[in-house]
Amino acid sequence: MTDARIARLHGRRVWDSRGRPTVEVEVHLVDGAVGRAIAPAGASTGLGEALDLRDGGTRFGGFDVHRAVGSVNAEIAPALVDLDTTDQETVDRLLVDLDGTPDRSRLGGNAIVATSMAVLHATAASAGVPLWQHLAGGRPVRIPLPEIQIFGGGAHADRRVDVQDFMVVCPAARSFSEALDWTAEIYRAAGALMRKAGKAQGVADEGGFWPAFGANEEALETLALAIESAGFAPATQVGISLDVAASQFGNGGRYALALDHRILDTTALVDMLGGWMEDYPILSVEDPVGEDDHEGMLEFTRRYGHRCQVVGDDYLVTNAKRVEAAAAGGAANAVLVKPNQAGTVTEAFQALRAGKDAGFGTIVSARSGETEDVTIAHLSVGWDAGQLKVGSFTRSERMAKWNEVLRIEESLGESAEFSGWSAFPFTATQASTPKP
Ligand code: PGA
Ligand code: ZN
Repeated sequence: MTDARIARLHGRRVWDSRGRPTVEVEVHLVDGAVGRAIAPAGASTGLGEALDLRDGGTRFGGFDVHRAVGSVNAEIAPALVDLDTTDQETVDRLLVDLDGTPDRSRLGGNAIVATSMAVLHATAASAGVPLWQHLAGGRPVRIPLPEIQIFGGGAHADRRVDVQDFMVVCPAARSFSEALDWTAEIYRAAGALMRKAGKAQGVADEGGFWPAFGANEEALETLALAIESAGFAPATQVGISLDVAASQFGNGGRYALALDHRILDTTALVDMLGGWMEDYPILSVEDPVGEDDHEGMLEFTRRYGHRCQVVGDDYLVTNAKRVEAAAAGGAANAVLVKPNQAGTVTEAFQALRAGKDAGFGTIVSARSGETEDVTIAHLSVGWDAGQLKVGSFTRSERMAKWNEVLRIEESLGESAEFSGWSAFPFTATQASTPKP
């Protein structure tokens, strides 16, 4: 018999992919079902995000999480014991109320999100179904289009280049599994190009090649070359997706591209990105301007939104109200959904639903600091997000997510539907095709 009330839960301190402590929560239900989840951590965080609680001081650079683990064991556990978990919304509301701050700074966003996700896992386990299926609740789902990083830059590579993520998307692949095959060939081709140019110097935080380039555009050139040398047609088969993460190099409409020795105002930055779109097969651009640059986001969306996905990450911080306001005003046409940016599973879902209601693209996303936790793979399928962004195609904290989606795709057999082009908020024929 299922009894989805919480018998006990506890927090423990584990380690993330950057070698920093993080919070894991384990939930045991009365019927014996168990759920477990680990909080990820960002490095290029948005201003409106839920805040992680860190110990400060000098130990581990101030990143230790004894206080956040203490929140779970001393406050969250006693408040949640006996609660029925079948209604995730009630659990999450209780967590938010218990914290009592708008930014989750009292108990810690890390303590809260790990608890919220662990409870979700326990409920699915109690129901005896995979997490994605529990979330789908019988509604049709698509296997997401993966956005995969080939070069990592910005805050994830000591600002070696200004742009943060140089990624590929394979919307013309017939399945998730084929999209991974294509990406693997492109990753190999990019590595070969780096070695040939004497630029193979290791990898960045999310496992993409270390960007030993002389200019931001050189990374784009190399990526376009890697796509072609791996044998794929740019734009029609494989496209480029950029996370500019512009808040990291500018605010107040003033942007300092250190590598290019240029300082740009909003219009000059939008023009520069527009020029790249003319020359390279770019299908998606995330945070093209700073998180405070509403006018810039409007301008970029107005100029390129008809043929390119315009993603708000720091700009929307997985917040349903911000998504609604952006949609009403014409800023961005896609939302990045990071559970720990919102704070709880329910709030992340609300942001995703606001995006879908507005006709936005929706992308479930990992953080630069990750672990073996695969919750987001299930969220991306179960919520029918259409897209999943995890980082590169190396390192097991990334591969764990890709491999989990492969398992889900296999389990669906013939009925598996890959989102492909349908993931984007524009149609394939409108997609930017670079000048020959
Ligand atoms: P973060 O970066 O996890 O370091 O915030 C990821 C992103 O900007 O998409
Ligand atoms: Zn981003």
